[in-house]
Amino acid sequence: MNSMTSPLGKPVDRVDGPLKVTGQAQYAAEFQVPGLLYGSVVNSSIARGRILQIDSSAAEAVPGVVLVLTHANRPPIASYDKAYEDEDSADGASFRPLFNDRVLYSGQPIALVVAENLELARYAGSLLKVEYAAEPHNTDLRARLGKMHKAPAEIPPERGDVGSAMASARYRLDVEYSSPVEHHNPMEPHASTVHYLPDGQLEIHDKTQGVQNCMHYLEAVFGMEGQIRILAPFVGGAFGSGLRPQYQLPLAVMAALKLKQSVRVVLKRQQMFTFGYRPRTIQRIGIGAGPGGQLEALTHQAIGQTSSFEDFTEHVVEWSGMLYQCPSVRLDYRLVSLDMYTPLDMRAPGAALGVFALECAMDELASAAGVDPLALRLTNYTDRNGNQDKPYSSKALRECYEQGAERFGWSKRLPEPRSMREGNQLIGWGMATGVWEALQMPASAKACLGPDGRLKVSSATADIGTGTYTVMTQIAAAALGLPMERVDFHLGDSSLSKAPLEGGSATVSSVGSAVQKACEELRQKLLDATQQSPESPFTGARLEDVSFNAGNMVLKSAPETSVDLQQIIAMTGALEAEVSVKPGEKRNEYATSTHSAVFVEVRVDEALGTVRVTRVVSAVAAGRIVNPKTAGNQIVGGVVWGIGMALQEESQIDHHLGRFMNHNFAEYHIPVNADIGAIDVLFVDEQDDVVNELGSKGVGEIGIVGVAAAVANAIYHATGKRVRDLPITLDKLM
Ligand code: MOS
Repeated sequence: MNSMTSPLGKPVDRVDGPLKVTGQAQYAAEFQVPGLLYGSVVNSSIARGRILQIDSSAAEAVPGVVLVLTHANRPPIASYDKAYEDEDSADGASFRPLFNDRVLYSGQPIALVVAENLELARYAGSLLKVEYAAEPHNTDLRARLGKMHKAPAEIPPERGDVGSAMASARYRLDVEYSSPVEHHNPMEPHASTVHYLPDGQLEIHDKTQGVQNCMHYLEAVFGMEGQIRILAPFVGGAFGSGLRPQYQLPLAVMAALKLKQSVRVVLKRQQMFTFGYRPRTIQRIGIGAGPGGQLEALTHQAIGQTSSFEDFTEHVVEWSGMLYQCPSVRLDYRLVSLDMYTPLDMRAPGAALGVFALECAMDELASAAGVDPLALRLTNYTDRNGNQDKPYSSKALRECYEQGAERFGWSKRLPEPRSMREGNQLIGWGMATGVWEALQMPASAKACLGPDGRLKVSSATADIGTGTYTVMTQIAAAALGLPMERVDFHLGDSSLSKAPLEGGSATVSSVGSAVQKACEELRQKLLDATQQSPESPFTGARLEDVSFNAGNMVLKSAPETSVDLQQIIAMTGALEAEVSVKPGEKRNEYATSTHSAVFVEVRVDEALGTVRVTRVVSAVAAGRIVNPKTAGNQIVGGVVWGIGMALQEESQIDHHLGRFMNHNFAEYHIPVNADIGAIDVLFVDEQDDVVNELGSKGVGEIGIVGVAAAVANAIYHATGKRVRDLPITLDKLM
């Protein structure tokens, strides 16, 4: 018998890698459907007002154009007159494309032109004559601060006595930070291919992080319970942009239902700037600290933007009440409604913003108190979440600090700004802490061992490039002692077992737990099957008495007693188990989070003000890492995004027109390879038997948190200049 080591914890290659690099992986806009028509969306050019008239005669006269769909001629929609929600809805009434003549934001879809091919549809779209009654609009957060309102979020109430603690503090700090709108910019644009089946049912390939979310949304909107199937086997990046159904989906469905034909709608790159985004924020941090930098009082106020129809909230300020030991904390969160689309979760929503402000302020405190920035974090270390007053289920942040600092060489840092130069390059070293939630959501999975000896495992989750296919295959293979080559994992199909949105870094924790449990049930069924006959050598054995290894079930007390799983299946026929797993009760008594320590080196050209991030060390504590390769890639991706956030990313709004100006990859700057230096990721050992059975916390988002602060702090160390407004471009540095 060959013994086999478990694939858990191994840096195995992506099981879907060959399909992707050979172009066989198909994305939403690539599926071929007979008789397909192509839709092109026309967007509003004003930010607020009414559509008086859409003259589509010229467009309709173009041969090959079959439909110009507007609010005036759209089919009646079952529940368009009442508010409906999707799984990631914000407070308020979700946007309804082509609902009526109102224009709520610039770029709002106002028509869908459907033609025999995409070029015709786009051309015909350019011929629409739209007459508006424009109204004054507001898109400038800062200009509307007088109109802000309390965010409908559960912010922890004030603890301690901030006023008197602040008054008696040795060091006091009161600083404002700001950040611009950013867009997700996944490689794959949003797209829906709606296959209209002969019986009127719809099979839809959509770019989404939640096939069942899209299915429920369409069922509710169009009153089509049980008639819709959504497929998304591959997703070319999403970062949160696929958490909610985007407008191309209902538009394509409307057209398909009206024409009784299949329709595809793909958004152009510019149109990727016409829905959700990371909101612009203004944040104010107050700190009162003792002589050694011990926190005595902390205040954090965030003001974010939202739309006129929904109140988008995220966790911006909570981190300041939990990351450090501090007796007196006051948190506040406000929103300003603007004539723009509703913001949307984007990688580490809220934390990417709030921790930026907090961790820059901590650096400012370190300077003021004359304490090393890392030492300041250790001084204020806590093992309890002060917001919830609960201990962490595990928190190996101390190890992140130690191992990250060691790897980076932090002890060689000279404390004074502008003290580490090389020629005309000012060198700066900065650091920051990162924190993110370790969530678990209810999820289901099915496992089936067939007569061919292959294990088929499935759940309606997604792989947005994160490695879900690979990691779930590892978990299933490990649980049944099969080589990974004998396991097929299926996802991205709304007809599979119920799964949550792939978001919140919770897929391994949620779906992985369900996969493991389904395989455990299958183990029991296999054992039961071998005990059918009284002469069975497994008679009386319980599950804990056998092990599963290299395709066999083995009696632990007598390893020569083993049976090939395929032999069992030959007797019983295929065996199947489907389970649902909820977060465990013991989580209730604990706070659960992932943590990181980020160390950054920048080089700033003294004459030009250009900044290069030459080195990053990110040390992460996220429980058990199922696959260090895919997990490491998640962290690298997050770090790159953090560098972009610090130095480049900004969706610029022309407030006169009320619209984004740089809605393309030429003018919306993200880092390219040449902008990125060495990124060194390390995972510290962290045991956790509370978060879930796997002990895994998820790594999709922690990689970005704290990075922008570490870069900003490094720039201060290099130059002696604090830039508190992102991105830190050279004009702000000069
Ligand atoms: Mo993530 S912003 O939860 O996709």
